[in-house]
Amino acid sequence: MNWEEFRVNGKELVDYITDYLETIRTRRVFPNVKPGYMKALLPESAPVNGESWAAIFGDIEKVIMPGITHWQSPFMHAYFPALNCPASLLGDMLANAINSLGFTWASSPAVTELEIIVMDWLGEMIGLPGEFLHSKSNGNGGGVIQTTASEATFIALLAARTEMIRRVKDELEDYASLEDAYINSRLVAYCSDQAHSSVEKAGLIGLVKMRYIESDEHYSLRGDRLVEVIREDRAQGLIPFFLCATLGTTGACAFDHLKELGPIAREENIWIHVDAAYAGTAFICPEYQSWLDGVEMVQSLAFNPSKWMMVHFDCTAMWVRNSSSLHRTFNVDPLY
Ligand SMILES: Cc1ncc(COP(=O)(O)O)c(C=O)c1O
Repeated sequence: MNWEEFRVNGKELVDYITDYLETIRTRRVFPNVKPGYMKALLPESAPVNGESWAAIFGDIEKVIMPGITHWQSPFMHAYFPALNCPASLLGDMLANAINSLGFTWASSPAVTELEIIVMDWLGEMIGLPGEFLHSKSNGNGGGVIQTTASEATFIALLAARTEMIRRVKDELEDYASLEDAYINSRLVAYCSDQAHSSVEKAGLIGLVKMRYIESDEHYSLRGDRLVEVIREDRAQGLIPFFLCATLGTTGACAFDHLKELGPIAREENIWIHVDAAYAGTAFICPEYQSWLDGVEMVQSLAFNPSKWMMVHFDCTAMWVRNSSSLHRTFNVDPLY
């Protein structure tokens, strides 16, 4: 396909996409196909010669659409909302065309600068304190886009682990000469019994113990239970280092009690990460921002614009209070 053909075919595709989304409510949400349905519709091996655009275009309705679950349908009520919108589609199209890799400022300055500015806007919109904003934290805090909330939790857990291992070695003489791996084996992280499975997974991959604390009758994690559990774990010689608090649990959209958990975590040097993956978008409405009370005591927070803000999957907005913990954990300086 050359650029002139792209110009024509691209417009045809934009028309197809517009028709698809405008009429999506006429489609059955969940596909009526059996596993392996696609094999019969495609050749055994890749074609030696490229097919015409017309043939490929025809395959969208013949091969792809019969097996699609239509997440954009107003009748889709499974999992969680994951909507897009015309502006987001256009933004994605442009981003794909530019296809810049933004891993450092120098690798594409506009990419980094736009991210910094928009993450500050978004942080301000949900009412985050200045310590989480690039422009108001003297360069200590700020927001960054991640792929998923699961990844954000994992990153926070690893950064918290680095911080606690450093702290233990610096502050406890008995531990100063011990291997990091030994200290790691004493670490314990917490979440409520309502937390998303990704929190458990973060513990598994990070090789730390994860303890699930019983929530109250409103499915909320409360301070008194956290205090008890910390006491038990310290008595066993464990080192509490991380708590993932959920604002908007997957099962019941319950909210852990940040205001109670914050002071306890601060006293115990426990990193609180807030997983607001699904409900976080609601904090844009001032009347819901009271659910964030206590956020001034957390170290990191993430929510998914790709869940409820009509931004494409995947897009997770993550903010940290102190970015040097992330630098210490993840910075490498390769020479190729
Ligand atoms: C509270 C909560 N946390 C985490 C996740 C996982 O989000 P992601 O798919 O972005 O990893 C979900 C998904 O629904 C969720 O509801």
